[in-house]
Amino acid sequence: MSGIEDLRQEYKGRFLDPENVDPDPIKQFDTWFEEAKKAELPEPNAMALSTSDPEGHPSTRMVLLKAFDQRGFVFYTNYNSRKSFQLEENPYASALFPWIILGRQVNIEGKVERISKSQSLKYFSSRPYGSQIGAWISDQSKVISSRSLLEKKWNEMVTKFKEGKVPLPDSWGGYRIIPRRIEFWQGQENRLHDRVLYSLHREGWKRERLAP
Ligand SMILES: Cc1cc2nc3c(=O)[nH]c(=O)nc-3n(C[C@H](O)[C@H](O)[C@H](O)COP(=O)(O)O)c2cc1C
Repeated sequence: MSGIEDLRQEYKGRFLDPENVDPDPIKQFDTWFEEAKKAELPEPNAMALSTSDPEGHPSTRMVLLKAFDQRGFVFYTNYNSRKSFQLEENPYASALFPWIILGRQVNIEGKVERISKSQSLKYFSSRPYGSQIGAWISDQSKVISSRSLLEKKWNEMVTKFKEGKVPLPDSWGGYRIIPRRIEFWQGQENRLHDRVLYSLHREGWKRERLAP
């Protein structure tokens, strides 16, 4: 692990201030998301999702953001996975977008709810055939004996469901993170980074600067 202590990067981006961001954090997210897409960084919609069990033990994994609007941030997964068991018991999550090439991160926290089955079906139907079949074969987060088990199930499922005829599995669908706290972080020189926190109050979204 030699040299890891010397790994450091100077950041420099546009100054970020509670006065020069959009009053609406979803619009601000949209602006930054478009910039992340333009920067051609790989998978700009990948976010590290943290959940925790009822005892407060956290766990984190990447998922893909598939929609966002004023209601919140939507991702899809297996409803029997470890993350889903945690979310059913403790419906709060945080999600982090690591847009490191831009010297940026966005952190979202909030309550999580399942989206409607019809919305999950609409998205599922738009997925490529292979991904649809994949949702049927993977008992996500369970221990399995070998890869060949997955391949066997794959062959069974492609025989069972032809292209264009794959139904939505009951165990698959979306969750929405309903944000109460969204932080935009812009790296700056000499570690004097800009942080703008939006927090939701009865009167609406409040914006404040946080110390780096
Ligand atoms: C870039 C990337 C994107 C991913 N996107 C998803 C996703 O959208 N949904 C999902 O269930 N798993 C996704 N995964 C796999 C998860 O990170 C994870 O392995 C899986 O959901 C099981 O997590 P769990 O056992 O904690 O529930 C992705 C992994 C990577 C590296």
